[in-house]
Amino acid sequence: MRSVSFLLAALWLAAAPARAQTTADAAAAIPHLQKHGTATQLIVDGKPFLILAGELRNSSGSSLEYLKPIWPKLEAMHINTVLTAVYWELLEPKEGQFDFTLVDGAIQAARENNLRLVFLWFGSWKNGVSSYPPAWVKTDQNRFPRVQDKDGKGLETLSTLSTANRDADSRAFAALMRHIKQVDTRHTVIMMQVENEVGVLGDSRDRCEAANKAFEGPVPKELLDYIASHRDSLHPDLSKAWEAAGSKTSGTWEQVFGKAAYTDEIFMAWNYASYVGRVAAAGKAEYPLPMYVNTWCSMPAPGRGPGTYPSGGPEPQVGNIWKVGAPAIDIRGPDLYSPNQPDWIKWYRANDTDNPLFIPETDSTRGAYHLFYALGQHDAMGYAPFAVDELIYEANPGTKPADLPLAKSYNTAAQLAPLILEYQGKGKMAGAVVSADDPQQKIQLGDYVLTVSYPRSGRPSTRPMATEPPSPDGAIIISVGPDEYIIAGSGPATVTFSPNTPGAPIAGVLSIEEGSFVNGRWAPGRRLNGDETSQGKFVRIDGDGIPNGSIQRVKLYRYR
Ligand code: DGJ
Repeated sequence: MRSVSFLLAALWLAAAPARAQTTADAAAAIPHLQKHGTATQLIVDGKPFLILAGELRNSSGSSLEYLKPIWPKLEAMHINTVLTAVYWELLEPKEGQFDFTLVDGAIQAARENNLRLVFLWFGSWKNGVSSYPPAWVKTDQNRFPRVQDKDGKGLETLSTLSTANRDADSRAFAALMRHIKQVDTRHTVIMMQVENEVGVLGDSRDRCEAANKAFEGPVPKELLDYIASHRDSLHPDLSKAWEAAGSKTSGTWEQVFGKAAYTDEIFMAWNYASYVGRVAAAGKAEYPLPMYVNTWCSMPAPGRGPGTYPSGGPEPQVGNIWKVGAPAIDIRGPDLYSPNQPDWIKWYRANDTDNPLFIPETDSTRGAYHLFYALGQHDAMGYAPFAVDELIYEANPGTKPADLPLAKSYNTAAQLAPLILEYQGKGKMAGAVVSADDPQQKIQLGDYVLTVSYPRSGRPSTRPMATEPPSPDGAIIISVGPDEYIIAGSGPATVTFSPNTPGAPIAGVLSIEEGSFVNGRWAPGRRLNGDETSQGKFVRIDGDGIPNGSIQRVKLYRYR
């Protein structure tokens, strides 16, 4: 594909003198985030890196033996990064005594299998509760206080309103980061998740003595200054609550935001953000890898108030609070398990587009098609379906890891990665998911409107329809030049084109090449036409002579 490979070659050559000077520095550089157009990219060893990841099940990281046969299979699935937990209880079984065996083993195994790692710090909280702190924390409730509910009952959840809790967690996390810095000079570990899906479950806020006192006390000036100076860009729920209570610049939480469950959520968000932000900052002081938090996502709905989901976690309606309260956190990422992932991504990002999209957890089956939407439509810097080790051991006997649907999608995405990274943040990519419920998407990209359709019935097919799984289809489209697109995805969607700019009104297909990208260079294969394109009418993503994972380079022309 000449224009794309030329572009990549030109970019490479133009950077040659600077490259020679900076190669050594880049190799030594710690993984970090960098802007690219409107997108944010993760830079690893001096180059942008698209995180095509898989998260392991919660307990998998506790046994190097268990994981031994899994690592090569993850690599075979075209996964480039593994998200795996580091458990406070196993890292610091006795106060001040650290055991890094599992951390070192994971780094070693990842390296041997050409994989990078994101460690998940299961510290004070995981899924809202405190099941991972060590026994010396769990059994000393006086020293390490817990959340209390309305009835004065303690929950198995450490309170954010305790400096003892926060400092114990920070010391452990700082020790972890210090150790990673020492042993990981090759940057196998590229990012850290700090805690996991935090927030109070079962009540809208912590009601322990310290929490009640803070709730009756003043809203921190820092937060109110931010709100007053960002009044035009706040999340609408936050500005509504603040304005309805009189746009105050001082007062208690209920004076400033009103008497509502949402105020409890804002209060908890501030306290979780302050705590988690301090833990992250303590880690970054040792070794400043990019750090993110993940969100147990819950779209607002009647009867689903804060406390039915973790209250104070980084939900979009308290995103502003997290931004001010936890400056050491670089990204807030949504855990997305619902079928309609595009709606959830839009909801999560609606008022927060400068928060880069990293999806730390998602359903591993649906991920095979949702991936293309996240990458194409939202410049996602990474994607991580959950429980990928289970995908491997639950697969039908004889199924090779590379044949799993997620692996096929990752194979496509890995080939496209150099192109995706180049085009991110420039308004030249799009993604779509089409399904029986939402069978058509219109996308304006370049000089054309592209229609992505879900063609499950009423089309001539050489495939028996009854055997097709009724799963949705996902597509990524990259506008690589005038009248030229790269299209790929998963599922038998079709793509048609109509001009969007002045000139001849009808779009025709000039050529469709099928091919692959080898180290970012287009390697053409078949020239597609005839039935494979319905006589030049559309691009088929998969089916009717087009294999799953096909990458197609499409050139269009116009006529009257
Ligand atoms: C979300 C959590 O963050 C994960 O660790 C895991 O427990 C999944 N839920 C399970 O569905």
